[in-house]
Amino acid sequence: MTKKTIRAVDALQDAQKIAFAPFIFQTTMSLRKLGVFDLIFNERSNGGISIEDVSKKLSISEYGLGVLLEIAESYGIVSKDTDNRFELTKTGYFLNYNRTVEVNLNFTNDVCYQGLFHLNDAIKNGKPEGLKELGDWDTIYDGLSQLTPDVQKSWFEFDHHYSDGIFEEALTRVFKNHPKTLFDIGGNTGKFAQHCLNYNNEVNISIFDLPGQLKKALANIKKAGFEHRAKGYEINWLHDNLSIPKGADVIWMSQFLDCFSEAEIIKILKTCVASMNSETELIIIETFTDRQKFDNAKFVLEATSLYFTVMANGNSKMYNSEVFKNLVAKAGLTIVEDTAVGEFHTMLVCKK
Ligand SMILES: C[S@@+](CC[C@H](N)C(=O)[O-])C[C@H]1O[C@@H](n2cnc3c(N)ncnc32)[C@H](O)[C@@H]1O
Repeated sequence: MTKKTIRAVDALQDAQKIAFAPFIFQTTMSLRKLGVFDLIFNERSNGGISIEDVSKKLSISEYGLGVLLEIAESYGIVSKDTDNRFELTKTGYFLNYNRTVEVNLNFTNDVCYQGLFHLNDAIKNGKPEGLKELGDWDTIYDGLSQLTPDVQKSWFEFDHHYSDGIFEEALTRVFKNHPKTLFDIGGNTGKFAQHCLNYNNEVNISIFDLPGQLKKALANIKKAGFEHRAKGYEINWLHDNLSIPKGADVIWMSQFLDCFSEAEIIKILKTCVASMNSETELIIIETFTDRQKFDNAKFVLEATSLYFTVMANGNSKMYNSEVFKNLVAKAGLTIVEDTAVGEFHTMLVCKK
């Protein structure tokens, strides 16, 4: 962001907004859960709705609505006319009806909110110190399959929201050279594998992931009737002296390497390189901070980095493309294609 002048009074207001940011966050969650945003929006053609009427319709005290709506008005989430009738502003509309914002709100609330309290310790110790709020694991990935249903739902919705959209678009490139064997590293719930198995009748897929995720992925694939063309390999990439089988035509890694530190990324890629021949394509999908058209997308990625710091593993992040490409080169790979996929993602096709 370029340096810009701002009046002291506005800067102080911004500072106060940060000082009370958790208050407005929880106010927003509450106004969504109580149905206040929905009701206010539905009353827009009547010129808005008063606190008294919201109170009657939703059986919530006027006191409770008053404290929530006063601060929401100060933050520009709702507006109030001279007859004290409330309407949603554009920001309020997005907070209630934009799917990406919804996924981010639920992820922040259910997965990260309590753990974020330990951010300072996470920075000092290089460990995901907030994770203890969810369970006793070294990384969040060890515990994904054991998270409580609400937390798990918010985690998966966040994960899938940022990758599902590009899977179909990526398939044409993935199958360009008619691969017969594809390794999906970090295959998670098996969604991409199912896209591939649906798209092409001949391909065989091997999914590599931690035991909990692998079990889920293979169960999903079996349910879809594809078990004869899919198998799984349990792996923990944080262990030493790993190898993976040879024979892949394509090795696919979607939003996987951002779960690791720079040194770990080089190690993982080197392990893959050892299994590749000169024709194997290693395809990486990432969202790079410096490749976003809009500041708000970059901001979401920066927040996601802090999730990695405090909740996930303590040492990874969403990377800058130049930093990342350097790691790929250090692992002994050459990037033969570097293209945009969808609005936010980059696809790097690499060869040994
Ligand atoms: C962010 S998810 C991405 C999932 C999927 N590829 C996508 O594009 O949505 C990262 C995946 O990497 C796996 N993973 C994370 N750390 C791992 C580790 N140490 N060893 C093996 N797999 C790991 C997780 O279990 C998860 O399935």
